[in-house]
Amino acid sequence: MLKSHSCGELNKKNVGAKVTLAGWVDRRRDHGGLIFIDLRDREGIVQVVFNPETSEQCHQVASEMRSEYVVRVSGEVAPRPPGTENPKLATGDIEVIAQDTEILNPSKTPPFYISEDTEVEESLRLRYRYLDLRRTRMRENLLLRYKVVKFIRNFLDARGFIEIETPILIKSTPEGARDYLVPSRLYPGKFYALPQSPQQLKQLLMVAGMEKYYQIARCFRDEDTRADRQPEFTQLDLEMSFVEEEDILNLFEELFTTMVETIKPDWGLIKPFPRLTYAEAMERYGTDKPDLRFGLEIRDLTDIAAQSDFAVFRSALAGGGKVKGICAPGCAAYSRSQLDELNKLVQGLGAEGLVTMSLAASAGSLSNLTLEMVRSVAAKFLTLDQIKEIARCLGANVGDLLLIIAGKPELVDMALGELRREMGHRLKLDDPHLLAFAFIVNFPLLQRSKEGRRWEPMHHPFTAPRDEDVPLLDTAPEKVWAKHYDIICNGCEIAGGSLRIYTAELQRKIFRLLGYSDEEIKERFGHLLEAFDYGAPPHGGIAHGIDRMVMLLAGEETIREVIAFPKTQEAADLTFNAPSPVTEEQLAELHLRLREKR
Ligand code: AMO
Repeated sequence: MLKSHSCGELNKKNVGAKVTLAGWVDRRRDHGGLIFIDLRDREGIVQVVFNPETSEQCHQVASEMRSEYVVRVSGEVAPRPPGTENPKLATGDIEVIAQDTEILNPSKTPPFYISEDTEVEESLRLRYRYLDLRRTRMRENLLLRYKVVKFIRNFLDARGFIEIETPILIKSTPEGARDYLVPSRLYPGKFYALPQSPQQLKQLLMVAGMEKYYQIARCFRDEDTRADRQPEFTQLDLEMSFVEEEDILNLFEELFTTMVETIKPDWGLIKPFPRLTYAEAMERYGTDKPDLRFGLEIRDLTDIAAQSDFAVFRSALAGGGKVKGICAPGCAAYSRSQLDELNKLVQGLGAEGLVTMSLAASAGSLSNLTLEMVRSVAAKFLTLDQIKEIARCLGANVGDLLLIIAGKPELVDMALGELRREMGHRLKLDDPHLLAFAFIVNFPLLQRSKEGRRWEPMHHPFTAPRDEDVPLLDTAPEKVWAKHYDIICNGCEIAGGSLRIYTAELQRKIFRLLGYSDEEIKERFGHLLEAFDYGAPPHGGIAHGIDRMVMLLAGEETIREVIAFPKTQEAADLTFNAPSPVTEEQLAELHLRLREKR
């Protein structure tokens, strides 16, 4: 090795030791006589002192060093002179007195500061990702990711799971997104698809008798990217034979609990994980992945609204709609422009508008409230009693702000769900050091497609229906419940899975219900159906989005911050500049010709 120690590991115990270090120049300070360099490597930073009286040659070389030069230094570890210790630095009690040094490689001036945690435009960071990853925050994120994955592997190994790799070049796997396709050179006109997940492969591994499988699996989905979505991402993919729903939920509760307690011992955790049905989550929070770090629950005001003369409520109800709301505690003094912002938020989501009611704190109590103390466009059209009833229903008190939306039920739920999240954030109720996990259970098996003509799986077509609902597949598919479960944390869906169908007969029935012809079923899923005829065990599993978990543990807002080389929001790789054109020869080899751009 070109080094004897890493920069970050040195401390008082090393005083007097001769060490050789190698790394990058984080900062250089030239104090005339003395030159100080903060030398950085993966483990941290240490101060190196170049004194011309110790070595004239070293001092000369140090005067040529600049930020991000790669250098090697040999010298002696010494305590810092009293009063110059730096408590913010792990190595802040000591410094290294350079006795020999060399520049291993110079560096151009980097396009942004690496030693400072300043805001840098994301596209510039992604273009120079190898420099961005030198920054402390990013280095720590990658180390955290490594720890999380290592924890998962140890945890599952101790419980008898084995890791099995599955292919990346396979056939289309329906997980609800578009496939990435790879043209075949050897089979003109044919394509591989990159797996959206190893779903069918892990089921085949159960038929193969592997019993307890997992994989840290890369998945590919050509869908719109978001803060918590990337075109390629990483799952902890898991499958078990001879299990019930409880076994998988308990395993994951233990995995997440011990992971957080080990990796973030000072963070809060809600134990045991609460369970919500899908219907309950939608009703109370307007989403199937609510942030449970805070309440601000949605309440149905339809009955009260039906008694009022307020046109906004009446016309929504006449159209079969609902009126629902939430209470923002202590926000009665919100200004016109703050209320406008909230209004814009819900309109941006498709709601017609937001009815706000500020209950003046000066009333002292709800019973003393008068109509003059209510600031709202609706106040003219409601009686004082109706307003108080709404307030009571929302659990509100004077000093609070009521936020009410009228309209189509799904839209009202969705918009209030987003508003709830926004208010939780504004009111700082989303404690970043608390992880509120929960299980969401009892999902419907099917939903109507967007245009309403077809049935689509809520999750994927391999999810088993509840046994008692199987007869309903013929008569009332909308009433069939699935053996499906999600795990959520702080408003993120971090895992989803199910018990699977394991007979060819039932699987074929579901495919037919989804509108596949027998020909298509054979073509697309023949391998799975055939396998089910050779003794498929009952099985089930789950997949966990590792990027999302690491994002939460790192306190980051997007999963891009915890992926070494992520794609942009527009699915581009800025370091490699991909996607990129290919040569005519490459296209010809793949039997492809590009069409003129329209
Ligand atoms: P699902 O599609 O729900 O299930 O995915 C499982 C988990 O993967 C994460 N995830 C993503 N993370 C980042 N970017 C994306 N584009 C993305 N899409 C999904 C989420 C999600 O909860 N085969 C099934 C699992 C099973 O049934 O066992 C599947 O993939 O955290």
